[in-house]
Amino acid sequence: MRSTLSDNISRDIDWWRSAAIYQVYIRSFADGNGDGVGDIAGIRDRLSYLADLGIDAIWVNPWYPSPMEDAGYDISDYRSIEPAYGTMEQAEAMISEAHGLGMRVILDLVPNHVSDAHPWFQEALLAEPGSAERARFHFRPGKGDNGDEAPNDWVSSFGGPAWTRVKDADGNPGEWYLHLFTPEQPDVNWRNHDIRADFEATLRFWFDRGVDGFRIDVAQFLCKDADLPDLNGLKYPTPIPADGSDPVVHPHFDRDEVHEIYRSWRAVADSYDPPRVFVAEAWVGNPKRLARYLRPDELHSAFNFDFLLSPWTGSKLRTVIDSTILSHAEVGASPTWVLSNHDGARHLSKYARPQTDSRVSSLSQIRDIPADFELGERRARAAMMLMLALPGGVYMYQGEELGLAEVEDIPDDQLQDPIWERSGHKERGRDGCRVPLPWSGDTAPYGFSPDDANASPWLPQPKGWADRTVEAQTGQADSTLELYRSALALRRSIAALATEPLTWMSDDNDQVLDFQRGSSLRVVVNISADPIALPDGEVLLASGPLPGDGTIPADTAVWQSVPCATTADSTRSS
Ligand code: NOJ
Repeated sequence: MRSTLSDNISRDIDWWRSAAIYQVYIRSFADGNGDGVGDIAGIRDRLSYLADLGIDAIWVNPWYPSPMEDAGYDISDYRSIEPAYGTMEQAEAMISEAHGLGMRVILDLVPNHVSDAHPWFQEALLAEPGSAERARFHFRPGKGDNGDEAPNDWVSSFGGPAWTRVKDADGNPGEWYLHLFTPEQPDVNWRNHDIRADFEATLRFWFDRGVDGFRIDVAQFLCKDADLPDLNGLKYPTPIPADGSDPVVHPHFDRDEVHEIYRSWRAVADSYDPPRVFVAEAWVGNPKRLARYLRPDELHSAFNFDFLLSPWTGSKLRTVIDSTILSHAEVGASPTWVLSNHDGARHLSKYARPQTDSRVSSLSQIRDIPADFELGERRARAAMMLMLALPGGVYMYQGEELGLAEVEDIPDDQLQDPIWERSGHKERGRDGCRVPLPWSGDTAPYGFSPDDANASPWLPQPKGWADRTVEAQTGQADSTLELYRSALALRRSIAALATEPLTWMSDDNDQVLDFQRGSSLRVVVNISADPIALPDGEVLLASGPLPGDGTIPADTAVWQSVPCATTADSTRSS
């Protein structure tokens, strides 16, 4: 079944500029067949839930065949479906059904590395040094007398060296190959024609099946200096010099050559009607460097990880918002805000701790700090209303609409993230944000799997999730789920949120983030620990109860309509 665009999908080719997109982490979204692992059948069952939530598109994490050494980011066949997740027929039906409900579908493309089970790598292992098969990867002889030292000093993002040695056909130690992640994820060589041609074929394969776009995994890593020089302590992101000139060139991070790849992909995406879109996962650490990926003939959007990493402080958030809007405007791009994803601690759990200026990317950094989860949820609700009111698109990570916190006490022997082993059990990894969703009922599996399931959820769910389920929160006016529904519906109905610029109404950022979108909507977020004055105007939505005494409580966001007399005309524009 081929998907055609349904009448329910907007024809606006710029839809992605202000879209609300929901990340479906397929392993943990919903289990349709009772094996304890989420799947396409589960997604299809819950599409109406997503449509009712009020989102414009879903992004599905990798659903291709994989040995699952890194939860599907080790792909052995890019143009097929992982059997544990379903079939191609189901995938095509899901795309079509999502379109029928007015939602677009974005898939995940992993171009930096493949699985070591991919036929290319298996062929490379059997081939000779210097062969065409090995040229698709980065194979090199080792250093030292016996070649038993790695070719250079690069390290894996998951800990340990970035090189593994293979055996020759005679069983003797042979060349080494590069892997910036696990040894089961060999990096491919983007100078190689086969690689370029094959990834374009993959784009077309899925675009031909109606897929609306791709999220691009580690978009900043693809190109490597051909000489593979030592880092000699050079870290990334490499700092931008004080005069604003380009940073020191890094041998495998954010190199200029990557842009040519994205230009060629853009041409493929633009050749479709309607044009397909890309969102980059590019941790480049600097708004100006990120904007280079978003030039008009490159990628459409890129996750704003500075926002995701920002502590809940007014000054930090204001800095990120201003620098993002400015750097994106310079290339005509639209910002893409995100608070959580499958790689970092859920934002509710970060906000539940005292906020400092440091950026928290993993739970390990804060696990020992006592948490106040009520405070965390209050801030998370306000943060969502801040995010949805900013100019641009947003990504929401499954479960944040239920007010889920990170699961911090998964027993050691049930941790699955390769980071746990690769770090020598120092880093617990990302499993705590990947625990299967609670849909209904009082006990695990909370409706994640069918009643007659023959396996438990692939990660254990906590005991106290009965009040977090979709069932428990539906119809409860004060629940986080209903707040998300209201905010998303309102966002759609307020034209200014899609089109109008942001104008700051106050510079007192320690206390408040206060801005207007156009002349009709005012957004006030109390970041401080004390109540602040509620401006005049009708309250359209608040992230928490308002006492009715003309104040906004701590850690609460409010959307208001602007009374005619109060406009942003006399204030500075960002
Ligand atoms: C980024 C993905 O989001 C993450 O989950 C994965 O482990 C790495 N890239 C490697 O593909």
